[in-house]
Amino acid sequence: MGFLNKLFGNEKQEEQPMTKLNIGIILGSTREGRVSPQVGAWVKEVADKRGDANYTIIDIADYKLPLLGEPGGDASKVAAWSEAIAKQDGFVFIVQEYNHSITGALKNALDYLRDEWNNKAAGIVSYGSVGGARAAEHLRGILGELLVADVRVHPALSLFTDFENGTDFKPKEVQVDSVNQMLDQVIPWSTALKTIR
Ligand SMILES: Cc1cc2nc3c(=O)[nH]c(=O)nc-3n(C[C@H](O)[C@H](O)[C@H](O)COP(=O)(O)O)c2cc1C
Repeated sequence: MGFLNKLFGNEKQEEQPMTKLNIGIILGSTREGRVSPQVGAWVKEVADKRGDANYTIIDIADYKLPLLGEPGGDASKVAAWSEAIAKQDGFVFIVQEYNHSITGALKNALDYLRDEWNNKAAGIVSYGSVGGARAAEHLRGILGELLVADVRVHPALSLFTDFENGTDFKPKEVQVDSVNQMLDQVIPWSTALKTIR
């Protein structure tokens, strides 16, 4: 009977246990007085309500990475950076615009690793005077080289309307929808790319 059911496609599909994806929310700035922790905490709060992944803040400032190739630095911190990125299935980059691009700290942290980034998905949440749009577009080019599939929806926060005095983060309500729409793309792409790693 089992054979006939299998043959005619009547067999009940076995439920596959689904493990939740790990999505790292990466803070791209490291300067004293930065606002990225406020933005990252807000993205995590919105994301956690979805219950569809394990969302973790990854603060590149914690790893004290020297400039790539320069002596010094703590090898255990570099190993910890590699490990933190390797265990993620996807990312949300919190990107701030510095001179029309991403921060040197984020570029350096990206340059440190290769395989750990490859074949994963990412969303970008940016901020700046024009929503950090120019920095976000630069990041897309870098992510392409690292085989990170960046999704289309891109919450862009204005220093003028989503912050008070450019420093106190008070996002407009509509930005919550934008973050959810971005995650609606990051989650299926992260799931799909997991199958080819
Ligand atoms: C070195 C530097 C360059 C900046 N260049 C730009 C820029 O080109 N365009 C822009 O919209 N904002 C620019 N800003 C403003 C930042 O986007 C703003 O200060 C933001 O809060 C920085 O992110 P952070 O607080 O997380 O470091 C710049 C800020 C710094 C420190």
